[in-house]
Amino acid sequence: MWSTARDVAAGDLVIVWQTRELIQPLLITPGKDFNSRFGYYRHADIVGIPYGSKVGSRNGRGFIHVLRPTPELWTMALPHRTQILYLADIAFITSWLDIKHGSRVIEAGTGSGSFSHSIARTIGSAGHLWSYEFHEARANKAREEFSLHGMADIVTLTHRNVCKDGFTVEDTVDAVFLDLPAPWDAIEHAKKALKKNVPTRICCFSPCMEQVLRTVSALNDSGFTDITMFESLLRPHEVHQIAPQPLAYAIEKLKKSEQKREEKRQNQIARSSKRKRDDLPETDAENAGGKRFKTQESAGDDVRAFDIPDPVVDQPANQPVKMSVSKACPEVRGHTSYLTFARLVPAAPATNRQ
Ligand SMILES: C[S@@+](CC[C@H](N)C(=O)[O-])C[C@H]1O[C@@H](n2cnc3c(N)ncnc32)[C@H](O)[C@@H]1O
Repeated sequence: MWSTARDVAAGDLVIVWQTRELIQPLLITPGKDFNSRFGYYRHADIVGIPYGSKVGSRNGRGFIHVLRPTPELWTMALPHRTQILYLADIAFITSWLDIKHGSRVIEAGTGSGSFSHSIARTIGSAGHLWSYEFHEARANKAREEFSLHGMADIVTLTHRNVCKDGFTVEDTVDAVFLDLPAPWDAIEHAKKALKKNVPTRICCFSPCMEQVLRTVSALNDSGFTDITMFESLLRPHEVHQIAPQPLAYAIEKLKKSEQKREEKRQNQIARSSKRKRDDLPETDAENAGGKRFKTQESAGDDVRAFDIPDPVVDQPANQPVKMSVSKACPEVRGHTSYLTFARLVPAAPATNRQ
């Protein structure tokens, strides 16, 4: 798959990394230019540079990184013709379907080929992927890409409605992956394609629970076992650099924070006692007892250690001035789909009873 050479050559497909949100494939064609908001570049200037290089634009508007394609980068850069599978799901499915070097696999539909690229790398030339797509233009485009990316010997792409016409192989594959609107209509066909002499596996990728329920019923009816459903969510962490603080400073900050908290508590108690002495009715919020004050504090203007301004830290010249810390993103990217897995176990040989 793709070039394994150290340097970029004319005709190579490279991945142009501009920002985390702007990653594009580019076929290096000397004579052409590449233009983006980060400047303009001549393809000819990219020929001969090592993969991974940072390239400055000709008009000084910015720079790009020129990367060797991998299935992971291809998933981030590929032209979307459909919704696609992303890496968290691809990795999880590969693992739970036990897809490895030499595996024989079916996928339907091909879509934009995101899943296909990762699977082709995992199974290698010792394995095979039968991929099915009923949208003709999409099938042709994916076939063209598989050939351009050196996967033609590993992937057989068939233009076909698998729910109606089934698969082109029988008793052949170790695993089936269905990313279809109605996977339940393809489950009996999948059963025929799976090997009969060893345990095999299936996964159906569906965005809503109604689809999962129909899939589970169809899997049960077809004799699949170990039916399990997962949802995979990514929780990214952001890494920031902050100025390191001496331990003594952190302790001092905590002490000041505690002191402020205590002063506030004492003030509130004093106000409450005064009201009692003056025979004023208590409000709910000011009802006696430390617990309620605590609640008020935590719901409102709690004083935190980081409210105190940072001191100027005297750093010896030979010490690093920044350190990296990571923080989990408060929002986890939403649900993509449910993954329903099941297993097909070979039927026990019939025993001759006398
Ligand atoms: C969501 S896309 C698959 C995306 C793919 N897994 C990827 O990672 O790029 C679903 C594809 O299934 C195809 N499809 C839907 N029903 C089909 C059927 N009965 N037979 C074959 N392909 C079908 C659609 O045309 C579409 O391209």
